[in-house]
Amino acid sequence: MSDTISIVGLGAMGTALANALIEAGKVTTVWNRTPSRADTLVARGARRAETAQEAIGTSDVIVLCLTDYTAVEAALRDAGPVLAGKTIVNLTNGRPDEVRAIASRLGGYGTLYLDGGIMATPPMIGTPHAFILYSGSADAFEGAKEQLAAFGQNHYLGEDPVLAAVNDLALLSAMYGLFGGYLHATALAGSVGVTATQFLPLVEPWLAAMMTALPDYAERIDSGDHARDVRSNLAMQSVAITNIVAASRSQGIDPAFMEPMERLAQKRLAAGFANDEVSGIIEAMRAK
Ligand SMILES: NC(=O)c1ccc[n+]([C@@H]2O[C@H](COP(=O)([O-])OP(=O)(O)OC[C@H]3O[C@@H](n4cnc5c(N)ncnc54)[C@H](OP(=O)(O)O)[C@@H]3O)[C@@H](O)[C@H]2O)c1
Repeated sequence: MSDTISIVGLGAMGTALANALIEAGKVTTVWNRTPSRADTLVARGARRAETAQEAIGTSDVIVLCLTDYTAVEAALRDAGPVLAGKTIVNLTNGRPDEVRAIASRLGGYGTLYLDGGIMATPPMIGTPHAFILYSGSADAFEGAKEQLAAFGQNHYLGEDPVLAAVNDLALLSAMYGLFGGYLHATALAGSVGVTATQFLPLVEPWLAAMMTALPDYAERIDSGDHARDVRSNLAMQSVAITNIVAASRSQGIDPAFMEPMERLAQKRLAAGFANDEVSGIIEAMRAK
């Protein structure tokens, strides 16, 4: 098991990660491009590295938590000589192509690479509500999992390094779909004078009730059978979807959030699936 850990990147999330390690009594080294962001952590017992290279060279496990992969490249730029044998845990949000490129490059230095996706906001870090997705080197995960557990629940998804990033983006896609739907709905209700506060007691239980459809949709998606035991067929639902888009326009609300759903529903209808459940729209999404 690895003993020492560094956090590279002390933005809102990196600071929360470092605080959780300090709380858990871990020997923690920190580095940030803007050095002053380390001051409070150092006062709480963290060790300050003067450079990213020093932060990487000092510890067995190095957690990167930066804006994007351009920042990751910048932080790793001078680290070549100290990367061998290290475990790099990259918790920076990224795309599969970026993950594959960095995993392969670090492999060339003899570095163990673990990619991750943080499913939490900074105040949730270190609480039971936070969970972090990991994928990549199983040896890296085994060696670091006890330290990483300070952040929240560990979910190791497998050896393919892109698993965490793609699952992270998929979960965020569900979240932005929910937020976007809520914002569109609240704007539409607002067009007839309903405030967001007045609308909340309607929309909140409605969304909670609709969540109960997901297990049935998951079964239909995995079996490919969207035609069995249909309760709300696509022909009926597509009328509602088209009405939402048209009513948004007439009420002065930009329908941009709902238009893709209308387009996908029409595509599925045109393919002859009017009597299927709406879960079948996933087939229209898969066929580009
Ligand atoms: N905050 C959240 O709610 C949340 C939730 C889940 C996941 N995440 C993920 O956590 C990661 C960090 O997010 P955050 O909220 O901590 O962002 P943030 O507060 O904006 O911090 C960004 C960090 O990246 C550093 N940085 C940016 N460009 C750099 C460069 N070229 N070289 C070196 N360092 C650079 C910044 O350094 P300076 O201080 O010098 O600018 C700062 O430490 C992101 O991938 C994000 O998706 C965040």
